[in-house]
Amino acid sequence: MLQSVHVELGERSYDVEIGPELLAQSGARIAPLLHRPKVAVLTDENVAALHLGALRDGLATAGIEMSSLALPAGEATKSWPHFERAVEWLLAEKVERRDVVIALGGGVIGDLAGFAAAVLRRGVRFVQIPTSLLAQVDSSVGGKTGINAPQGKNLIGAFHQPSLVLADTSVLATMTQRDFLSGYGEVVKYGLLGDAAFFEWLEVNGPDVAGGDMAARVRAVTRSVQMKAEIVARDETEQGDRALLNLGHTFCHALEAATGYSDRLLHGEGVAIGCALAFELSSRLGLCSQEDPSRVRAHLRDMGMKTDLGDIPGELPGAGALVDLMAQDKKVIDGQLRFILARGIGQAFVTSEVPREAVLSVLKDALATA
Ligand code: GLY
Repeated sequence: MLQSVHVELGERSYDVEIGPELLAQSGARIAPLLHRPKVAVLTDENVAALHLGALRDGLATAGIEMSSLALPAGEATKSWPHFERAVEWLLAEKVERRDVVIALGGGVIGDLAGFAAAVLRRGVRFVQIPTSLLAQVDSSVGGKTGINAPQGKNLIGAFHQPSLVLADTSVLATMTQRDFLSGYGEVVKYGLLGDAAFFEWLEVNGPDVAGGDMAARVRAVTRSVQMKAEIVARDETEQGDRALLNLGHTFCHALEAATGYSDRLLHGEGVAIGCALAFELSSRLGLCSQEDPSRVRAHLRDMGMKTDLGDIPGELPGAGALVDLMAQDKKVIDGQLRFILARGIGQAFVTSEVPREAVLSVLKDALATA
């Protein structure tokens, strides 16, 4: 059942290994990268309680010793104080230029540990061991690393590619259903942006993916990673096509800001609602059929996911305020909002030419039915 996806980036190329029980094989898989049998692991307290022992045992099978630092779980950890603590700990552990740092956790730990590896001694290698669905299909692949600033999310960081990604699909069993479905929002996004057949497959097999069927999970993660790898290989630093990965994200970022980056809306939930809104906008602009947004929403509903603005608990600001929040997104270029729109399911494209009135009208209608 094990799958391997190659991310082709010349001398920075690497493999993403996907499948069950990979933690148990971590020693054999990581040993070829090491100059000495010792690694430093950054993780969070929740993940440490669940999976650090399995990683230690897996590494020990190849005689690799590990030391670890468990930071508090949660987005607040992606900040200067925790970053400083992580870097100082790596220095105290005497991690050398030829050593390897391991990120064991979800997107927060992957981003922070990757950034720490990027700057430590001007750059050491790191291995991503993503433990959430969102991290397995998105944040662990592609080399975006960083932390949040008081001014906004992910404003401080670096492109630093991992040397290996081990996506152990067994560990997904420890996720809550809400967190899993939030990650599934990113999986659906891949079908919607570039692979209609994958979206059709998800329409049929999504319940098995969510229900824990291992073969279905491996297939969903593998196809998602293949698509991300192809896009990152074409456009590593997001000069063009990589922006396709932001389907649904312009709406999502405004909704996340409006809900204070709180538990009211998880990132992948915002992506799912954002994808539905992006298809609604595409349909209103005459780019895709009216059936496409209905089909997107129907699948999200079938999966028991947040689909419409009314699914977000609490009050939301008005349409004008949401558009203003979009304008603060770091992906705005020369003051122009950038949207990922679609000519149909699986046919997304990037554009800056979206009339503000059209966005306002989609949001007004979505708020009216909320
Ligand atoms: N998560 C979007 C990207 O990696 O570009």
